[in-house]
Amino acid sequence: MDRILIRGGNRLSGRLPISGAKNAALTLMPCALLTEEPVTLRNLPRLADVDSFGHLLNQLGCSTRIEGARPEDFGRVMTIRAGKLTATEAPYDIVRKMRASILVLGPLIGRAGEATVSLPGGCAIGNRPIDLHLKALEAIGAKLEMAAGYVKATAPGGRLSGGKYTFPIVSVGATENVVMAAVLAKGGSRIENAAREPEIVDLCNLLVQMGARISGIGTETLEIEGVDRLHGATYRVMPDRIEAGSYACAAAITGGSLELVGVKLSDMHATTDALIAAGVTLEERGDNLLVSASGPLQPLTLSTAPYPGFATDMQAQFMAMLCLAQGASVLTETIFENRYMHVPELARMGANIEVHGRTAVVRGVERLTGAPVMATDLRASMSLIIAGLVADGETQVSRVYHLDRGYERLEEKLSAVGADIERVGDG
Ligand code: EPZ
Repeated sequence: MDRILIRGGNRLSGRLPISGAKNAALTLMPCALLTEEPVTLRNLPRLADVDSFGHLLNQLGCSTRIEGARPEDFGRVMTIRAGKLTATEAPYDIVRKMRASILVLGPLIGRAGEATVSLPGGCAIGNRPIDLHLKALEAIGAKLEMAAGYVKATAPGGRLSGGKYTFPIVSVGATENVVMAAVLAKGGSRIENAAREPEIVDLCNLLVQMGARISGIGTETLEIEGVDRLHGATYRVMPDRIEAGSYACAAAITGGSLELVGVKLSDMHATTDALIAAGVTLEERGDNLLVSASGPLQPLTLSTAPYPGFATDMQAQFMAMLCLAQGASVLTETIFENRYMHVPELARMGANIEVHGRTAVVRGVERLTGAPVMATDLRASMSLIIAGLVADGETQVSRVYHLDRGYERLEEKLSAVGADIERVGDG
């Protein structure tokens, strides 16, 4: 397994390109299942999860063609064609490795009238059930049966009726699944307390371009009028707001100055508001964002929340940055029950963090010290990279396969802006 070595202390400066959003790509790709025509996605990030999703689509009978990507380019163009589905099952060995595989459930029922998907099981950050996915699909006409760790969903008569569902709590994935199922239903559907993340806006925009009829896009109430068929489309994946926020924290903790190239600021106000409150200077330059920090960082009180609140996917990265703030920060993780796996690893680097249930108190220290640390999940691994960039000495981050799921060519991007970072294989 690869490790990443960082020798801390360099200020980051220069231009850093932001890739297409992982969490948009993973809900845009399954849309291709909804039509027999080709769907072309541009600015698709070069990530392990995107590759895994492509393999899953191949197993369902889709062709996936990568076009015109020179090795030095960030992002790729992929054309997916589900001319004829040869399977409607997402097997356990794929779903357990990548939970987002369950996002084939909605489109398969929508297109084929049936789907069999393995229950995902838990993951490092929490139990992560899919009960809301199933309840929402039932509300628009799906019949479900559970057996041997799988859920088999069918549409009576081969087509969903449509219906109304109010989510008891906000769920990004469940909103995505029910929207992708409802667009081909016989009747209309109304989804209340829907998630409003920008990735869901991206999903709805692609579906509308494919001929779907959706209103209320970007709000918590989506009205969907079922149509008989959808056609192909070409669509550009939105910039990754979490990657952008992650590198902004890296610039801030090193006292550097980074120009993030190709961001969508309107997607990340909660992140930029928190950075400004911490004393970071931001300057909007068209589609780019200049992030610089010269003075000491200020402590923050932050609580994660569904969009447009402070993103849970930014909690670990901010925690790393706040380890060196001048005072005590209080972070509260309201979305997942176990998203503090980075805390003991940061503590090994000298951070002073106390966790009480869902709340973490981060007391700023003078410095961090490089150490061998272990990545446990995607965003936790980024927090260790951020800490390593400023720590005295060398930090070795192991199990970097977590990083490769969500950060395209991280060490290349960071080396290009002054980080002393390299990837070493274990041979
Ligand atoms: C998506 O996960 C993202 N993943 C996550 O990003 C992100 O952290 C999360 O949304 C919240 O923003 C992708 O988009 C691929 P949820 P998802 O359903 O859809 C509970 C990253 O680092 N819940 O909004 O799985 C659930 O346990 C990843 O990029 C149920 O109880 O998140 C959690 O506590 C990590 N039942 C809460 O809701 C359900 O049926 C929010 O989960 C579904 C969810």
